Amino acid sequence: MAEKLLIAGNWKMHKTPSQTVEYFRAFKPMVEGIDEVEILIFPPFIDIPTAVSESRGSNIKIGAQNCYFEKEGAFTGEISPVMLREAGCEYVILGHSERRHIFGETDELINKKVISALEEGLRVILCVGETLQERESGLTFTVVETQLRLGLSGIGDKLDRIDIAYEPVWAIGTGVAAKPEDAEEVHRFIYEKLKEINPTKAEGVRVLYGGSVKPSNAEAILSQPHIKGVLVGGASLKPESFAEIVKIGASIERSK
Ligand code: 13P
Repeated sequence: MAEKLLIAGNWKMHKTPSQTVEYFRAFKPMVEGIDEVEILIFPPFIDIPTAVSESRGSNIKIGAQNCYFEKEGAFTGEISPVMLREAGCEYVILGHSERRHIFGETDELINKKVISALEEGLRVILCVGETLQERESGLTFTVVETQLRLGLSGIGDKLDRIDIAYEPVWAIGTGVAAKPEDAEEVHRFIYEKLKEINPTKAEGVRVLYGGSVKPSNAEAILSQPHIKGVLVGGASLKPESFAEIVKIGASIERSK
C-alpha cells in the first residue's frame, strides 16, 4: 500500500471566516515542509473560499463536510459537488454519523451523493460506524458491512477515488476512543469487504479511524497496520494539537 497516511481535520460547525484566517496563519508554519503525510481540512461551507486561499501554495488540502447529489436546481440550502470543485475542494465527507443520526440521512441518499461527487471529480471519504447499542448487540460488523455495501453501490471502477472513515458513534466527541486493537479488527474487516467489492483497487483505499483522536492516542492508533489515517474532530480545532497529530503521522511514515 503506497498511499501516505491521511491526517484529516473535520471542523464540523465551528469557526467563522475570520477565525479560519487566524487558524491557517498559525497552522501553516507549524506543518510547513511536512510531506510524509497528506494533510486535509474540512471547514464549514462558508469558510471554504477563505481556507482555499489561505492554504494556497501549502501542503494542506481542503474538503467539504457534505454535499447534495444534484448539480443545481430548486434545493434551498443545499450545495452541489460542482460548486465544491469550483471553490477548490478536492474531497468531500459523506455519510458522517452526525448526518446519519441528527439529519436522518439514509444509506440510499448517501449513495446518491457518493456517485454524484465522484462524477464531478471529487474524492470521497465515506464514513461508517456502529452506535453503542449496535455494538452491545454484537452488530458492529453487520452495520459496517451494510453501510459500506450500500454506500459504495454502483460506483463501478471508482474505488480508487474513495477513502473510508471508520467512526464508531460511541467514540465521537466522547473523549473515549476505541482501543487501537479493537479499531484494527474492524479496519481489517473493512479491507476484506473492500476486496470483495473490488479485488484490484481495495488495497489503495485508505481506511481512517475517527472518534476522540488526540495527540495522546494518535501514535497508538496510527501504528496499527490497517489504520491508514485519522479523521479528527475536536482536536483539529486548535492548530497546535492538530499539528501535533500531523507530526506523529509523519514520524510513523518516516520510520516505516
Ligand atoms: P471527535 O474527534 O471530536 O471525536 O470527532 C470525530 C469525528 O466525528 C470526525 O469526523
